[in-house]
Amino acid sequence: MTDLQSSANVVALLDVSPPHGGQLVNRMMRGQMRIAVQERAEELTKVELNPFNLSDIELLAHGAMSPLTGFMGQTDYERVVGEMRLSNNLLWSLPVTLPVDRETASGFQIGQEIALCEEGRVLAVMEVAELFEYDKRREAELVYGTTDESHPSVSRLLHQGDILVGGEIWVVDLPAAASIEFPELRHTPAQTRRMFARRGWRRIVGFQTRNPIHRAHEYIQKAALEIVDGLFIHPLVGETKPDDIPADVRIASYQAILRDYYPADSVLLGVFPAAMRYAGPREAIFHALVRKNYGCTHFIVGRDHAGVGDYYGTYDAQLIFDTFKRDEVGIEILPFDYTFYCKKCGMVVSSKTCPHDRENWIFLSGTQVREMLERGEMLPPEFTRPEVSKVLIDGIKARNNNDSP
Ligand code: ADX
Repeated sequence: MTDLQSSANVVALLDVSPPHGGQLVNRMMRGQMRIAVQERAEELTKVELNPFNLSDIELLAHGAMSPLTGFMGQTDYERVVGEMRLSNNLLWSLPVTLPVDRETASGFQIGQEIALCEEGRVLAVMEVAELFEYDKRREAELVYGTTDESHPSVSRLLHQGDILVGGEIWVVDLPAAASIEFPELRHTPAQTRRMFARRGWRRIVGFQTRNPIHRAHEYIQKAALEIVDGLFIHPLVGETKPDDIPADVRIASYQAILRDYYPADSVLLGVFPAAMRYAGPREAIFHALVRKNYGCTHFIVGRDHAGVGDYYGTYDAQLIFDTFKRDEVGIEILPFDYTFYCKKCGMVVSSKTCPHDRENWIFLSGTQVREMLERGEMLPPEFTRPEVSKVLIDGIKARNNNDSP
């Protein structure tokens, strides 16, 4: 194949999965434009971003949240909360907002530019297009399905600023995490699209996770890979609740087994710089749309996707997709039943595929897993590969050493 032909093929493959809304957004300023925006920013009122908004900046900058170009104005916000649609009718399930307190908001004028910062360092300039009040309890009820403050995102929502600032952003620098935490795995949507195309993958399944890999994950990933060309493992590395396993351990668990148990030419590991919302079904839609922007054609949704506590039914995150037309979602959802190891089958199965009784099934609760690891015990190999158990035990030891005075 000539170079010309191969680059033509790459371009053709880039179009296999169009981004949400049709075009990949790019809000990252470069060259002279970046310098000009940076200079302008020095004179502007500075607003410090919380960890959630820092992640949003990175996702907006490279178009992971296409078609969004900034933080939502009131019409988008109200429609997204109420109907899961942007004002142009496009499917979108989670509000992406910039909350500030009343005092800060009272200093802003419509049309004014402000600088969005991380510890004083300017990351982006934003044009204040709108300032509006919003109903936090309504958002909690509709987006998270509860107003219970034990839900981590509801608690954050109810305590955040009372005014939302809507407007486009122009990004000049990424949050510090982008250059410190897994920079080699932080592929942007444009990069993953090119990587998939260069490998000749036409059908790519995306896998979201906030946990270290266990055998059920591996099973559903590999089952999905059977029907597509490539698997994009995309663990989330933004803010999670404090008792989730830290991102570095999560990524180390993958690195410990990828080489020996996954085919290099059909698997790609990248990190997803989003914060976790624990919005169950609504977040499953968000996760799918965003992975479409990264170039995936398929997306895995298993049991209790993006769930926390008992707020959502085991399969709510799969059922919600039935309420939308397939072409509105624009990425094929691969639903998986609860999977686990069956001693009689001698493999990972689900109740759909296994005829045996429960006593043959290996289930460990989160608490049991934590207790075993705290004691330095390896988890059963049918549940977690030994290489991963070791990473988890080492992670706990490192954390305990850091915690001790
Ligand atoms: S999530 O919050 O990021 O969804 P997690 O890392 O636990 O959590 O899960 C990643 C993906 O694997 C989700 O789609 C989830 O539904 C699925 N999953 C996790 N464990 C199982 C399991 N035992 N059986 C089926 N699907 C599972």
